[in-house]
Amino acid sequence: MAGIVRFILIGCLLQGALSSQWAVWLPKSIEALSGSCVLIPCRFEIPVKYENDLHSAKAVWIRGKKWQDGTHVFDSNQTQSKNRIQGRLIGDLLQKNCTIIMDNFTKSDADHYSFRVDSMGPLKFTFNQTVPILVTETPPKPKLTPVKVEVTEGTSVRLTCSAAAPCPTLPPTLTWTPRLRNSVDQLQENEDKTKSSVLTFTASHLLHGQKISCTALYKLQQGDREKKSEQSLTVNVLYPPKSTSASVSPSGSVMLGSSVTLTCSSNANPPVQSYTWYKENGREMKIVGSGQNLTFNVTEPSDGGQYYCEAQNDHGRQTSPVFVNTQTAGSHCSLIPYIICGILAFLYLLTVGVGVFKYRRLSREAEQGKQGGGGDTYTSLQFSNVSSDYHILQRRAGSKQVADQGRTDYENIREKMHQNNMHRTGANAS
Ligand SMILES: *[C@@H]1O[C@H](CO)[C@@H](O)[C@H](O)[C@H]1NC(C)=O
Ligand SMILES: *[C@@H]1O[C@H](CO)[C@@H](O)[C@H](O)[C@H]1NC(C)=O
Ligand SMILES: *[C@@H]1O[C@H](CO)[C@@H](O)[C@H](O)[C@H]1NC(C)=O
Ligand SMILES: *[C@@H]1O[C@H](CO)[C@@H](O)[C@H](O)[C@H]1NC(C)=O
Ligand SMILES: *[C@@H]1O[C@H](CO)[C@@H](O)[C@H](O)[C@H]1NC(C)=O
Ligand SMILES: *[C@@H]1O[C@H](CO)[C@@H](O)[C@H](O)[C@H]1NC(C)=O
Repeated sequence: MAGIVRFILIGCLLQGALSSQWAVWLPKSIEALSGSCVLIPCRFEIPVKYENDLHSAKAVWIRGKKWQDGTHVFDSNQTQSKNRIQGRLIGDLLQKNCTIIMDNFTKSDADHYSFRVDSMGPLKFTFNQTVPILVTETPPKPKLTPVKVEVTEGTSVRLTCSAAAPCPTLPPTLTWTPRLRNSVDQLQENEDKTKSSVLTFTASHLLHGQKISCTALYKLQQGDREKKSEQSLTVNVLYPPKSTSASVSPSGSVMLGSSVTLTCSSNANPPVQSYTWYKENGREMKIVGSGQNLTFNVTEPSDGGQYYCEAQNDHGRQTSPVFVNTQTAGSHCSLIPYIICGILAFLYLLTVGVGVFKYRRLSREAEQGKQGGGGDTYTSLQFSNVSSDYHILQRRAGSKQVADQGRTDYENIREKMHQNNMHRTGANAS
């Protein structure tokens, strides 16, 4: 039993020792931003018999596609200034971790790089794999996911923006524009050397057609410079008809026998698929037409009244009222002022007529009186209390016809005149 266990153990150890060959794991390629730093993740494997040498080992990075005759640009045992490429070995060689950060990387540093491990002992080996480092002057555009936003109103939208972060000491800052109300963003530093921000918001019809952008701002190691890149998408929000309104043309009241057009307008996405026209008929609604415009001839007063337009698309419907006034309804009312005016005019003419008639009779009689009684008679008429005569006139007029009235009045005046004349004569005699 113990023998079998020992055998398996030895077998495993043997297998482990045999499988430990020279090997290195590097990314397929790396994209660096000029003026910034670049991190090269690196891991290696060596035969077990060399593992003790790792205690005195140093990391060397070689530039060139042909690693055999490339130049040593970085040595972890050298002082910074002696290295062609400024950098820091951040991995622990004892852990077989050869990760490095190269600083102030520029376009002229773009090349293939390979790793070599050197020790005081027999461990001296250049791994035959290289990693190409590309250098861009402008940072790549951040990625937005999903690429397209087409949602119905009210749903929650989750947008992710991820930007390359080749330099871990100066990761990009991500900002969203516009700054949406009710939006929450969170940052994630990812395994694959990207930085991301998640934006969540509730789709509203006001956001339809809105451009949403994510901007990645990179600070550079050289000076106070910075570079930025931006990606954007346009939000497509699907919503039912909104601000539906109906109007009537011509406006005002419509004359019987003329044509009237009702127009409906609405805001919807997708655009309104159908318009339906209803007319209020007592308590029920009658469908009277379809289409954005409804044209009909007003032939009778009942063609006027309360109409409704209903706009509809896949996401809902909305109704708007419109009232059609007809001319006949208003015509009775418009005659009343004329009737009143007519009556008033008739009464005025009547009054004027009677006045003129009275005056002419009066002046004719006065003429006759002058011929009879002389100048005195006329003077006495002036002195006499005319207003009191009028009293009598009016009292009598109440019971008699207008035509007679004139005559009676006059007789009355004549009587008075005689009385006055008699008084005068009497006074003169005494
Ligand atoms: C190598 O070292 C770096 C820096 O300490 C670390 O971030 C990374 O996870 C290590 N890689 C592995 C494979 O352990
Ligand atoms: C690297 O430096 C360490 C400590 O300074 C030293 O122990 C080691 O021998 C050096 N290795 C090489 C290959 O020069
Ligand atoms: C690298 O070396 C390994 C073993 O040392 C070998 O199997 C492999 O083919 C080599 N690869 C290249 C690209 O030379
Ligand atoms: C990068 O280079 C600039 C100027 O050449 C220097 O001031 C800065 O210290 C360097 N940064 C690093 C991290 O080496
Ligand atoms: C309805 O009328 C308006 C103007 O009155 C016009 O612009 C529109 O094109 C018309 N719509 C249809 C579907 O005929
Ligand atoms: C309205 O009346 C005119 C003439 O009176 C006629 O030509 C037209 O076809 C009528 N329109 C409708 C919608 O009835």
